[in-house]
Amino acid sequence: MHAARGTDFDVLVVGSCNTDLISYVSRLPKPGETIHGTKFSIGFGGKGANQCVMSSRLGAKTAIVAMVGDDSFGNDTIKNFKNNNVDVGFVGKSSEASTGAAPIAVDDQGQNSIIIVAGANNLLSESHVTDAFASINSCKVLLCQLEIPPATTLTALKLAKRRGVLTVLNPAPAVENLDEEFFRNCDIFCPNETEAELLTSLPVTNVEEAKRASLALLDKGCSKVIITLGVQGSVLTLRDTRTPVHIPVKQVKALDSTGAGDCFIGSLAYYLSSYPDLRLEEIIRRASVIASISVCAAGTQTSFPWKSDISHDEGLFKH
Ligand code: RIB
Repeated sequence: MHAARGTDFDVLVVGSCNTDLISYVSRLPKPGETIHGTKFSIGFGGKGANQCVMSSRLGAKTAIVAMVGDDSFGNDTIKNFKNNNVDVGFVGKSSEASTGAAPIAVDDQGQNSIIIVAGANNLLSESHVTDAFASINSCKVLLCQLEIPPATTLTALKLAKRRGVLTVLNPAPAVENLDEEFFRNCDIFCPNETEAELLTSLPVTNVEEAKRASLALLDKGCSKVIITLGVQGSVLTLRDTRTPVHIPVKQVKALDSTGAGDCFIGSLAYYLSSYPDLRLEEIIRRASVIASISVCAAGTQTSFPWKSDISHDEGLFKH
C-alpha cells in the first residue's frame, strides 16, 4: 500500500470492496428451487466501498483502507474509486485471494437477498490499519462495517477514538454476539432492523420495537444509536436523554433497495464531517432523503446520486 502521507481527510473508511453480481427476479427463490431471472448486471459494491463512494459523491474528501485481489475485478474496483475521487493510497492488492464477490437477487418489490464471498477482504489486517493511521494527518469521521476481519475493525475504531476522530459503526452483516468493545469504541452505532434484532434478541419490526431495541443497545455501551427501518424511517436514541426519537422518511416507489443502507450511512458521514454543527436529527433527515433517491434507481453504487444530481429544494445543503 502506498499511503497518502500527511493528508487530511473528512471521511476515512476501513472496510470491504466487492463486485456485485445482481440478478433481477420476480420473487426470491425458495430453498432448493431454480427460477428464471429477468436481468443481470455487474457493479461495484461492498459496504465499505459503497459508503465511501457515497460520502465522496456528496463532496467529502475520502480515503478507504481496503484489500482487493490481483485480478480484473480488483483493478476495476481501484479505477472506480479513482473515478469517485476516493484516495486509493491505502488499497492493497493480494494474489492470495480473489476480490470479494456478492451474488445478489432483487425481486419485483425492490427487496434483495445477498451472499458475500469475502475473498481478499479477509486479508485486511490490523497492520494495514495501523500503517494508514500512522500515515494520515487527520480525519473527521471513521466509518466501519463488519465485512472484514473483526480484529481489523476494532483496531480502526480504537485508533480513531484515541485520536479524537468521530467513529461510526454499521454492524453489517449482522452477528449475534458482537464483542462489547465494538459498542464502547463507536460514537454512533447504526444497525438496520435485522441487525438490531440479532444484537438484542428483541423483535424490531416497527418504530415502537426499534425504540425498545435502541435502549437495549445503549445498555451494551454505545452512546448514540440510530436504527434504520427502511420505509419506516429511523429511530435515534442518545445515552444522555434515553428518549428515542422517530425520524420518518419520505415515501417513494422503490425499484431496488440494494445499498440504500450504505447510501444512508455514507451520507450521514458526509454531513457529520461537513456540517458538524447541524443537529443529529436533521442530519438523519437529510441522509434519509438521499437514501430514498437511491432506491428509485437500479443497482448498488449506480443508484447513488452525486451532489450535482440532487435538488436543493429540501434544504439538503443548507448550513
Ligand atoms: O449493502 C449492500 C452491499 O452488501 C452490496 O454492495 C454487497 O457487496 C454487500 O457488501
